[in-house]
Amino acid sequence: MKRHIRWLIFSSLGAAAAIGGFGCLGSESDDTTTTVSELSLGDALPGTNAATFAAAKANFGETETQADGLGPIFNERSCSACHSVGATGGAGQNIERRYGTLTNGVFNGLGATGGSLRQLFGIGGFTPSPGLNCQSGVDANPAPGATIFAGRVTTPVFGAGLVELIPDATIQAIAAAQPAAIRGVANFDTIHLTDGPFVRGQSRVARFGWKAVHASVTDFAADAYLNEMGITTTSCVGGSVVSDFATENRANRAATNAVINGCPDDDVPGVDDDFAAENNNCRGGLTAVQDDVSNFAFFMRNSAAPPRGIDNSNGRGLTEFNREGCAGCHVTTTFTVNINGRSASFQPFSDFLTHDMGTLGDMIGVNDGDSVTATRRMRTAPLWGVRFRNGLLHDARTSDKGAAIQAHAGGTNGQGSAAAAAFNAATSAQRSDLLLFLSSL
Ligand code: HEC
Ligand code: HEC
Repeated sequence: MKRHIRWLIFSSLGAAAAIGGFGCLGSESDDTTTTVSELSLGDALPGTNAATFAAAKANFGETETQADGLGPIFNERSCSACHSVGATGGAGQNIERRYGTLTNGVFNGLGATGGSLRQLFGIGGFTPSPGLNCQSGVDANPAPGATIFAGRVTTPVFGAGLVELIPDATIQAIAAAQPAAIRGVANFDTIHLTDGPFVRGQSRVARFGWKAVHASVTDFAADAYLNEMGITTTSCVGGSVVSDFATENRANRAATNAVINGCPDDDVPGVDDDFAAENNNCRGGLTAVQDDVSNFAFFMRNSAAPPRGIDNSNGRGLTEFNREGCAGCHVTTTFTVNINGRSASFQPFSDFLTHDMGTLGDMIGVNDGDSVTATRRMRTAPLWGVRFRNGLLHDARTSDKGAAIQAHAGGTNGQGSAAAAAFNAATSAQRSDLLLFLSSL
């Protein structure tokens, strides 16, 4: 709940929590078969201050109202309303709608008419001042003129702080070492909100989301607060106001803050949580992320990696995983990062690159002007925690792991086609070993 929480305005990376070991994962891919974590899904990284984590998690689960700035259009009222499967922070059942057009090979996200993300709900009637009766409207489904339609299921955030710290060079080195037939592409994003080691304006490998769109959890949190819940925020960077996430979405209209028929967008037109104004417009060279966004980031950063389970294939499934070429993209690399002065190792089974998946790609661009090839690119889905998931693939088209693998057959352009063919050609014993291995992740 905004405006009432004042306990976390410092950078969440510099927070008081001391991060200990991670209690998970074998040291290399060879002994992943027997190591079982003592942590449960949704636990904090060992050493995280329990009270701070609990408060940040509560904020992530907080239901927001119109008085908090919800809307005018939105998809849900709390982060955890979507991120809930298995534990708070998990994947979701909600399948969002994305739209766009591809004209002469160029993507357009229809931003001026309510694309590319649809907001499902509107706050409806509201009375910002006596006698002024307003309506939020709702986003039309589909956005007018859309020719491309895609579903996107909610991804989990466990271990996000570890992923965030993987150096760009590590990800780029993986790409360089991949055979051309499956070589991925590193997407780059410009850091919006300075937080800890991430500095506004810095170009960094984007690694979060189905299409790898943001490079830091803080940026993703502010983006989600705006686009999923309709709550705009400002933050401060070096004494300057950052208003990248301060523009309301409006039902199928241009993204401006102009007043519609005398009605503001919601209770506080234009800026819901004007953190910068609350802080005297960032006076004194202030660098601080808006409170809620900072709390969301703290919760996600300090969520431990999903715990490993028992591999009932006794290691044979991992052999199969390598043999069928899965590890080409779902790399078995054990990444090591330094978090709060300590070394932490984890195995997410993703290269965090985007791959041309052919017909499996969702055809939604990251930016207007993207090429057809770019719209087919999807981030290698991290397979850690896949046993806790329901719907698989970006649109949750199946909950069956075998069917998800077979869907990697994306035709001639599909970089996953060879792996799908290898899976189809495997014996039933090999397939069942592979699936047992996946069920330990
Ligand atoms: C209406 C449902 C919904 C709500 C509410 C929601 N999310 Fe999400 N979240 C999603 C979906 C869907 C994705 C995948 C988006 C994509 O890549 O297209 C996602 C992805 C993410 C990711 C990327 C994880 C990864 O690596 O793939 C982060 C981080 C995240 N959300 C944080 C948040 C935060 C913080 C909030 C609250 C401010 C929030 N989300 C609210 C649906 C939701
Ligand atoms: C060319 C890179 C590549 C190869 C090779 C590959 N995958 Fe994937 N995998 C992906 C991408 C990208 C996605 C996300 C696709 C989507 O939904 O758009 C994915 C998704 C998945 C999912 C669904 C995960 C989720 O979160 O929904 C599973 C399970 C999976 N892969 C297993 C495998 C297995 C097993 C193999 C080997 C037979 C394999 N993959 C080979 C890139 C690859």
